[in-house]
Amino acid sequence: MRMVDLIEKKKDGLELSREEIEFAVKGYVKDEIPDYQMSAMLMAIYFRGMSRKETADLTTAYVNSGDRIDLSGIKGIKVDKHSSGGVGDKISLIVIPLMAILGIPVAKMSGRGLGHTGGTIDKLESIPGFKTELSLKVFIDNVNRYKMAIVSQSANLTPGDKKTYALRDVTGTVDSIPLIASSIMSKKIASGADALVLDVKVGSGAFMKSLGEARELAEAMVQIGKDTGIKTVAIITNMDQPLGHQVGNFNEVLEAVEVLKGKGAEDEVEVALAIAGHMAVLGGAFDTFEEAQARLRHILNSGAAVEKFVEFIEIQGGDASFIRSGKAIHRPKHDIEVKSDFEGYVKSIMAELIGRGAMLLGAGRKRKEDAIEYAAGITLVKKTGDKVGIGETLCILHTNLDDWTEASEIVKSAYAIDRNAPEKIKYIYDVVR
Ligand code: URA
Repeated sequence: MRMVDLIEKKKDGLELSREEIEFAVKGYVKDEIPDYQMSAMLMAIYFRGMSRKETADLTTAYVNSGDRIDLSGIKGIKVDKHSSGGVGDKISLIVIPLMAILGIPVAKMSGRGLGHTGGTIDKLESIPGFKTELSLKVFIDNVNRYKMAIVSQSANLTPGDKKTYALRDVTGTVDSIPLIASSIMSKKIASGADALVLDVKVGSGAFMKSLGEARELAEAMVQIGKDTGIKTVAIITNMDQPLGHQVGNFNEVLEAVEVLKGKGAEDEVEVALAIAGHMAVLGGAFDTFEEAQARLRHILNSGAAVEKFVEFIEIQGGDASFIRSGKAIHRPKHDIEVKSDFEGYVKSIMAELIGRGAMLLGAGRKRKEDAIEYAAGITLVKKTGDKVGIGETLCILHTNLDDWTEASEIVKSAYAIDRNAPEKIKYIYDVVR
């Protein structure tokens, strides 16, 4: 087989076979196929698309390019979740204790944040003592015993996707639906999930800018799930503003605690309950989503969820005393208020710019090797629909750095203020099963 023939075939809009896709991915991982040929193939896929069968075969080829975590030692249906790049998205912290209370095992493998999006592992590591490097044995034992464990992704998962994703990033081929769908699904399949709830974001801060595109991506991923034996539900949610009021690391943990106490922000609670509700149905705890929601709401209001979160932190070696004492473990050197130059209503808040601002304040990484300041972040005082006057505070920057000029300008530009009150935004647009 020759890569050039496969490029020609795809360029002509013909369907690649499973063997041809395997050949391309394997050859690329082994450096037998050069970047320039894979770039041409990616561009051909970008313009010609991929059939349902090709997309499933590409997903399988990525899975087969590295290790597949064997979680068969865990009893019960292992339900995972994935969000396509949120800002202020602390939903994983909320659903882990909720699923554990329902007896659904959550064996979570998560990544660190890069660029404008935060990582669940970074957020949890802001809790003193919290360990995210566990052996597979401890990880599995903990899930069997406590129904919840989290580990940072360290295994050699989907190197085919990893190498291709880096190439897509520099060849203008990221925003292709079959490429995104196979990339995301391959990582979830390799990390051993039986069932999956996907949060596909749409809006100014997301990969998918329109509802139509988001629906197409959601459908492609649900199809891959069907074709590879992973029960998958996708929820399409609004990313025209960050979730909740806190963006950063430790401040996001504190906000997750508020949700677990039944006191969370409306958008965050609604999205968390939707994801947790579908996870609970897939995990076999309820027959209907409505029953699951009602029970989950009750759990949030009962105080049981926050107790379970304390247990989760302690199992992973962390010190959860801040939850009872209310003591701020990380205090920033500066809290800077960003004020509005206009009067009106907040129309939207570009999540990507808020994420970039938080990164510049020290809450995220520009490069993989950068350190994180756990006290850094942003508190969004005003959210979409809120009324604002000239000189009123839009948000507060938290940083240990002495120069926040660029972050402040970026964050201010994220706010769109309109004279007229916007219609109430929808947090959840659709569910694809
Ligand atoms: N996230 C991924 O993991 N892959 C993509 O292609 C896009 C977003």
